[in-house]
Amino acid sequence: MTSSCHTERSRSASEEKQNNMLDITKIRKDFPILSRTVNGKPLVYFDNGATAHKPQSVIDAISHYYSYQNSNIHRGVHTLSREITIAYEEARKTIQLHLNVKQASEIIFTRGTTESINLVAHCFGNLAITEGDEIIITQMEHHSNIVPWQLLCEEKKAILKYIPINQAGELLLEELPKLITSKTKLVALTHISNTLGTINPVKDMIKTIRSLSKAAVLIDGAQAVPHLKPDVQDLDCDFYVFSGHKLFGPTGVGVLYAKEEWLNKFGPYQTGGGTIKTVTLKKTEFADAPLKFEAGTPHIEGGIGLAAAIDYITQLGFENIQKHEDDLLQYTTKQLQAIENLVIYGNAKNKTSVISFNVGSIHPFDIGTLLDKYGVAIRSGHHCTQPLWQFYNIPGTIRASFAFYNTFEEVDIFIEALKKSIRLLS
Ligand code: ALA
Repeated sequence: MTSSCHTERSRSASEEKQNNMLDITKIRKDFPILSRTVNGKPLVYFDNGATAHKPQSVIDAISHYYSYQNSNIHRGVHTLSREITIAYEEARKTIQLHLNVKQASEIIFTRGTTESINLVAHCFGNLAITEGDEIIITQMEHHSNIVPWQLLCEEKKAILKYIPINQAGELLLEELPKLITSKTKLVALTHISNTLGTINPVKDMIKTIRSLSKAAVLIDGAQAVPHLKPDVQDLDCDFYVFSGHKLFGPTGVGVLYAKEEWLNKFGPYQTGGGTIKTVTLKKTEFADAPLKFEAGTPHIEGGIGLAAAIDYITQLGFENIQKHEDDLLQYTTKQLQAIENLVIYGNAKNKTSVISFNVGSIHPFDIGTLLDKYGVAIRSGHHCTQPLWQFYNIPGTIRASFAFYNTFEEVDIFIEALKKSIRLLS
């Protein structure tokens, strides 16, 4: 650690005390995994874009379910079943309130962002897409918000269009009105890029789309929900999707918010137990939303754990989270910019705490492997956004992605480890 680096770190840390309501030292104690070592070094976890860690309250909620509440929902008159049905539906309400959704029946539990998008692609595709129709996405989507639309367009002989980006990794917003035609049926946009950190002005974009077409709008909030609190009524989107595990909740659970009008019109996605009103040997009558879209025994502890995660993050306050993460982003960016031959991809004016970069011709996997030896976890590779790297003409990057529990001291460890790794690999 250089002395100037240390001075700057100390200044940032004291600024943090002045300007930020978060007590990061105390918060870190809520996350058991943050106290472990990796390769003999304290863990520095900068791979929050891939998955975030879970506070003890989430772990406890899951453990409590299996220890004292385990039973199936919507299927029994006995006490345990009734209790857990209430708890699961309370979890749905927590998500409803968090997203400012009108009614809880507009919240569908899924396995994650990917399944939520696949559900919409399947149901919306069957309902509304025919030959020659158009769907618009962006050049910065992750594969989960590309592949389902590509397959749908192939199947229906529809056309998939892309909003392009500039070198800074911002959408060329002036292209959006030019892409919209009378054939545009759906626009699917990422709220925040998982790779570049760009925060897209989705509210303004939805206004533009509404003024020019009747297209439905899906917002992929997978990377947004750890950093901000979406208000789906204010956004006026038709669909909002995200995963629990990036929001400090369990893996294998996610959310699809859909306006009631769509859920009433959609046919089922998967069918079977839980989705039905009546079944005869001749035919099936389906239940109303949300049950129509939740086939089989759901990820009960997932829903309960996700609600616990939302409760946890809500008491921290998103303004405080954003302030701390923005300080981390500025502090890290400045230090990375001082490293020779280091190129940062994604320099949007409105950006969250995600930094993608490369150093000369060193392969991202080599840096990732060496950083791991110093206990530093980052992601290296294409980050499930290959079309984005085709734009930049590189195979991938090293990505550091921060959460509110990360510290300036961790950034210093990361920068020192990075410099040592570069020396070894040059
Ligand atoms: N989409 C996740 C990421 O960005 C997996 O790492």
